[in-house]
Amino acid sequence: MRSIATHVAPTPRYPRAMSATNARSAHTRIFGRTHLAVPTIGQGTWQMDKDDRASCVAALRAGLDLGLTHVDTAEIYGNGRVEELVADAIDGRRDEVFLVSKVKPTNAGRFGTMEACERSLKRLRTDRLDCYLLHWRESVPLTETIEAFEALEKSGKIRSWGVSNFDVVDLEEAQNIAGPGRIACNQVYYHPGDRSIEHAVLPWCERNGVALVGFSPFASTGGFPKPESVGGKALAAVAARYGASARQVVLAFVSRKPCLLAIPKTSRAEHVRDNVGAMSLLLDADDLAAIERAFPLGAPGALPTG
Ligand SMILES: NC(=O)c1ccc[n+]([C@@H]2O[C@H](COP(=O)([O-])OP(=O)(O)OC[C@H]3O[C@@H](n4cnc5c(N)ncnc54)[C@H](OP(=O)(O)O)[C@@H]3O)[C@@H](O)[C@H]2O)c1
Repeated sequence: MRSIATHVAPTPRYPRAMSATNARSAHTRIFGRTHLAVPTIGQGTWQMDKDDRASCVAALRAGLDLGLTHVDTAEIYGNGRVEELVADAIDGRRDEVFLVSKVKPTNAGRFGTMEACERSLKRLRTDRLDCYLLHWRESVPLTETIEAFEALEKSGKIRSWGVSNFDVVDLEEAQNIAGPGRIACNQVYYHPGDRSIEHAVLPWCERNGVALVGFSPFASTGGFPKPESVGGKALAAVAARYGASARQVVLAFVSRKPCLLAIPKTSRAEHVRDNVGAMSLLLDADDLAAIERAFPLGAPGALPTG
């Protein structure tokens, strides 16, 4: 599967009862109001500036070869160096990629957003982003950022826009400003060890046709459940049923619903090959229950930011 740009009939809502198997494909998710089918598993790029550059570029290209065409980056990653690295990885293959970048909160004013977008496009050596996100919310009024996003979309520099680290109160405010059906996605911290979004953010996004992109699915570097832990043992038991890896089980879990996508980061092609296996792993109700028991939901609280 190499192309992401498959147009489908408008289905911007995510009924709760809809299972992963009757979403458009087990391997893709409708990316909110863009109506584009995007692979369930994408590629994160945070911290790639600290890894071997050639290895990162090779890993991203290996991912594209295997259908991981959703590439997530941000202007703050390595102060722009990661966007430049992504440009090398997608060179000559721009049309295959669903390219996402983010404006940092201090740039997110009306003009700052437009200028930041231009700089990102230049570093990424492209003329458009498929989705442009507010990285997280600070003091700049949302009206300014959204006004800039809408202007950028009208001019064709971005195909859609979204938000990140938004709780329900922020989503409501953004939707009140922009109108219904304008927010394409909310990118949020989500892994089995932190299921906070399931309390309210996930149901809100399902109701409002907003894609939920889970970041840090492995709880970032060093955060993956140890094999001897309760969670680690549960993941291993599910993995053994399918001849899968524990990380594949985690990715299948965090992308199990029709609005959920995941963006693991890896700088190694061998890890890309492991992660891509999650796209064909469909967990059944017993698997999901076992994982949920080992990683309890916890009480509602403030949305974590990773
Ligand atoms: N919107 C936001 O505020 C926000 C915040 C954080 C992250 N993000 C996005 O989400 C992406 C993913 O999150 P993350 O970078 O925090 O961490 P992550 O994807 O949870 O974990 C990355 C770690 O897992 C390792 N890894 C990946 N695949 C592996 C495999 N198959 N086997 C063993 N190890 C593996 C990586 O090492 P190797 O590289 O050595 O494989 C790295 O140490 C980011 O890169 C970024 O694009 C967004």
